[in-house]
Amino acid sequence: MPETPLPPLVFATRNANKVLEVQALLGNAYQLLSLDSLGCTDELPETGDTLAYNAREKAAFVHERWCVDVFAEDSGLLVTALNGEPGAYSARYAGPAARDQDNTALLLARLADRPDREARFRTVISLCLSGEWHLFQGECRGIIGHSASGEGGFGYDPVFYPMLEGGVSDRTFAQMSRAEKNAISHRGQAVRALVSFLNEQSVI
Ligand code: IMP
Repeated sequence: MPETPLPPLVFATRNANKVLEVQALLGNAYQLLSLDSLGCTDELPETGDTLAYNAREKAAFVHERWCVDVFAEDSGLLVTALNGEPGAYSARYAGPAARDQDNTALLLARLADRPDREARFRTVISLCLSGEWHLFQGECRGIIGHSASGEGGFGYDPVFYPMLEGGVSDRTFAQMSRAEKNAISHRGQAVRALVSFLNEQSVI
């Protein structure tokens, strides 16, 4: 008997690692397609000032042009003492061409005299499946350190000490293995919520 083709699902990202990571979690329920395999060379819009707005805007851009099932994610760091900054601007906090080190240095400078170091990473995933919209979220609370520690990860990882069950970790995200970080991270939680929803759909 010929095999039934898996339903295609587009992940609206240019990050090939993120596609592989989600495909591994999804198993054989869907065939995950990247923007490249769809033939999408456009830059996806990201014009909002919230993560939820940007995630939906990116997914809607692809859905409207290619009429496919699609999801997009947006993540950022929200610092309590800075009224939620840098939030949706996390990637370009220190300017449009800012590198991770520039953004982190600016964050540490803005927090220099602040005793309140509370922050949280947040991920929002917006999914359009059969024309219906769904939202998934993940959040990881933690503390911003006073200097960078660790070589792993990316972005603000070297200054972020996640909150664990017993209290604040003594290691930053940048000092953890990828598996350790995924188990507690905002992105890991949001992706697991998405995957469990998709797996439920595929058995109905
Ligand atoms: P993206 O939406 O996953 O591309 O994340 C946008 C920006 O938020 C990144 O460029 C980082 O500055 C920051 N960010 C998001 N997730 C993380 C993380 O897990 N660790 C450190 N920085 C992150």
